[in-house]
Amino acid sequence: MSDPIATIETEAHAAIAAAADPAALDAVRVAFLGKSGRVTALLKTLGSMDGEARKSFGAAVNALKTGLAAALDQRRALLESVAMEAQLKAERIDITLPARPTRTGSIHPISRTIEELTALFGAMGFTAKDGPDIEDDWYNFGALNIPAHHPARAMMDTFYLKAAGRNRPMVLRTHTSPLQIRTMLGQTPPIRVIVPGRTYRSDHDATHSPMFHQCEGLVIDRGITLAHLKGCLVDFLRAYFEIPDLKARFRASYFPFTEPSMEIDIAWDRKTGTIGAGSDWLEILGSGMVHPNVLANCGIDPREYQGFAFGMGVERITMLKHGIPDLRSFYESDVRWLAHYGASPLAPVTLHEGSAP
Ligand code: PHE
Repeated sequence: MSDPIATIETEAHAAIAAAADPAALDAVRVAFLGKSGRVTALLKTLGSMDGEARKSFGAAVNALKTGLAAALDQRRALLESVAMEAQLKAERIDITLPARPTRTGSIHPISRTIEELTALFGAMGFTAKDGPDIEDDWYNFGALNIPAHHPARAMMDTFYLKAAGRNRPMVLRTHTSPLQIRTMLGQTPPIRVIVPGRTYRSDHDATHSPMFHQCEGLVIDRGITLAHLKGCLVDFLRAYFEIPDLKARFRASYFPFTEPSMEIDIAWDRKTGTIGAGSDWLEILGSGMVHPNVLANCGIDPREYQGFAFGMGVERITMLKHGIPDLRSFYESDVRWLAHYGASPLAPVTLHEGSAP
């Protein structure tokens, strides 16, 4: 007859070794050491034994029990560490993978030019100012010495808006010059402001858009002369176009709100489009000494204060600086165009010093 203890021992160790996961191992434990397990059954037979037999059989069964419990513990520890390793492997994050590229946008050329204007004029003591796109007729025309039937109104192809409860129409501002009036009414001299912003005219072709941008400039103080206007704008143009000896000429012109008025041209080569080269002239800015009537309209005594004003097209100077051929491309929101002509958001706005010739 075979020894029941030895048989159970052999079978139990085989079952423990075969258990592939903690649940299977637990089933083995129950089958041998559980309440109705095979080892427990052996212990129950002790009651019917006597004397020496009982003592030695009892000791052998206990040794079997302790041995199996140790083998179960060992197997459990092994299965757990295998499971842990598998989990670590499955959940491993590969930090050597290159990061997914994030697409950065670019600053629209119009915005970048406005940042440059703000920086360049800022260095000369100007503050940038803002104003409404929908403007009162009086700010856009009347206060600027442009009376009701003045031909300058027709020249500007104005968008008129019906305004409830008003007998005068509102307009989409045709230039940034109404901010001359708003500024002079709102603050006392000395004044040094620029006003970059949207302007509107009912005009649409390759070189005109119904919505475009201008930048106005206004300086009011005691003893301001044409020499200040010239010095300021020549310095600005040289700095903006990054050409230290850029030639500029002042050509007599007419604006109702300045007297005298001047258009400023810069040297360029018409054939190649190169700024600062060649013997052609390119119109770039309108300017003049603020008309005494305009000062008076704003409650400023023209005998005490003088000043100059200027205005330029932001698209125009942007196209010239960056060689952008078509005005309409500014508003098409074509990401390829923006990627090409846009500025990096990380690149600082540079402040170029224009130097005297
Ligand atoms: N407002 C004028 C225009 O739109 C430009 C200008 C501004 C001229 C200031 C002189 C002084 O054409």
